[in-house]
Order: sequence, then structure tokens, then C-alpha cells
Amino acid sequence: MENVLEIKHPIIDRYLTFLRDKNTSTAVFRRAMSNIGVILAYHSLSDLPLDETEIETPIQKTKGYVPGPEVVVIPILRAGLSLVDGIINFMPEAKVGHVGVYRDEETHQPVNYYDNLPVGIKDAYNLVVDPMLATGGSGSHAIKFLKENGAKTIKFVCLIAAPEGIERLQKDHPDVPIITAAIDEKLNENAYIVPGLGDAGDRYFGTI
Ligand code: PRP
Ligand code: URA
Repeated sequence: MENVLEIKHPIIDRYLTFLRDKNTSTAVFRRAMSNIGVILAYHSLSDLPLDETEIETPIQKTKGYVPGPEVVVIPILRAGLSLVDGIINFMPEAKVGHVGVYRDEETHQPVNYYDNLPVGIKDAYNLVVDPMLATGGSGSHAIKFLKENGAKTIKFVCLIAAPEGIERLQKDHPDVPIITAAIDEKLNENAYIVPGLGDAGDRYFGTI
């Protein structure tokens, strides 16, 4: 698939096993999500442009690097918050914006309820973050909102993607690369990812 990176790594498989297992405790689920967030950030930021700077070691002057554009992480509330901890551990200078979208349980259509974007997203390197890309409605909606606010460089970072969601994002936003830890089989009749991990927000926040 073009413009889609499915990260293959034995440790990802290990963390995904904790995350998918319905008997995993909230504490272990949170830790696995945080650790996998670091790996997703590592791959998502692999082409971040850098500017050169000069620094001084205790021995002599030398070349250093600073991010060219600012990095902005935009979790789609609620479940997107689960990956933020890992991503900002890897990239502590990143700013964090928020887009609140939930999926209507009957229609599966995205409903927008909150936005708070930092200034400067127009020129930033923006990572839209959500663990689950199911129908793609929420992701597509959040990306559209960012573009309406002037964002030009956007990546979509998720944990598990359904083929249906990938197709939808690629159709609506062919310019936005998708980085995922797994591409699953399909959606079920309730538009949940199969095999997936169930409701990511409920499992992360312990609201089940
Ligand atoms: C989940 C998930 C995504 C969305 C994915 O959020 O975190 O945002 O569903 O589904 P889609 O690709 O079909 O739009 P949910 O609506 O459960 O809200 P929550 O994050 O507040 O739990
Ligand atoms: N949202 C989730 O949390 N899980 C799914 O499988 C689909 C949408």
C-alpha cells in the first residue's frame, strides 16, 4: 500500500499482544500503549528536517541540530491521548494540540466537540494521533480540520488500522502518510476492528 508504513518489529508484536488481550489490566495496557508510542514516534519523525546550530562541548565547538519545523502532536480525544505520553517522551519539545471527536454509536459518523490547536500549525510538522483507524471517519475529519487551519505537513499515526480506514484516508487525504503498528483484517458489523483490541478509549481510561 502506498503512503502506509506498517512497522514490523518483534517488540511491537509483544506489546500488541498485551494490548489485544482482553484480560490485560488497565495498568499493563497503559504501559504498553506508552512504550509503543515511543516506537511510533521514532518512525513517524524519521524524516523531520533539522537545522544546523553551533554548540560547545567541554572540549571544543561542534555542530549540533535543532528541529527545522516545530513538531505538533494532535491526539484525537479521547483515545488519542493514550499515545501522547510515549510520543512526547521521545520528542519532549513537541507541542500538543487537541481535537475532540467521537464516533456516533448508531451512525458511526464523527461528531466534533472540542478543538484547541497551538499557534504555528501552518508551518509545523503535525502528527495526528489516534490508536484506532476503523472506518476512517474520525481521522479524516480531524485532518480536514487541520488543513482548514492551514496545516500543510501532516502524518496520521495509529496503533491498529483497518483496511477500510486506510482506504478512506487515502481517498480523502492522499497527501497524508499513515504510520501504524498493525494492519488488521476488517471491520465487524458494529464498525469495530477485527481482531483489534475493543474500545481503545474505554480500555485505556478504565471506563469499562
Ligand atoms: C474511537 C477511536 C477513534 C475512532 C475510530 O474513538 O479512538 O477516534 O473511534 O473510529 P473511526 O475510524 O470509525 O472513526 P471513540 O469514538 O470510541 O471515542 P473515544 O476516543 O472518546 O473513546
Ligand atoms: N474505536 C475503537 O476504539 N475500536 C475499534 O475497533 C473501532 C473504533
